[in-house]
Amino acid sequence: MNDTTFHEIISRYHSPSGRTLGILRDIQIQEGYIPRELLNRVSVELNEPVSRLYSLVTFYSFFSLHPVGEHMITVCMGTPCHVRGAEKILETLQSLLQLSGESKDGKYSQTTQDNMFTVEIARCFGACSMAPVLHVDGDLYGYVTPEKIPDILSRYGWKGTGISQSENRSDAR
Ligand code: FES
Repeated sequence: MNDTTFHEIISRYHSPSGRTLGILRDIQIQEGYIPRELLNRVSVELNEPVSRLYSLVTFYSFFSLHPVGEHMITVCMGTPCHVRGAEKILETLQSLLQLSGESKDGKYSQTTQDNMFTVEIARCFGACSMAPVLHVDGDLYGYVTPEKIPDILSRYGWKGTGISQSENRSDAR
């Protein structure tokens, strides 16, 4: 983001009420995430501790501190989904999409190297009766099994890199 755009966003908000969130939201929309460098600049500009801004960004799921992929996959890890195999769903996604499985910034979030997919976790979508569930770009999938994941991913342009589907099926039993 160049200086002109940054200062234009800062100058949009005059009232202290909601100013910080408004600025962070506009940066998120403009950049697709909140780069660390911009978080520091907002901190200086608003004279707010960077730790407070960090807390806001990690609290609201709308914000991300790293670039997100073209397609957002959110796996529910609430208790009913967890009991019915959400951990296995996440492991299968990590394996098929070749993700390391490490958490960043206090939120689990991993993006594929080609920036096609980001995988995040959440707690309960209110669809527990269909557990385990996941969202892809807002589409809800219920009763998900590891065997169904290659088909779900292929609807969003996944080309089948990583472990083969037959390996995945035998692994899921
Ligand atoms: S716990 Fe997963 S939808 Fe409720």
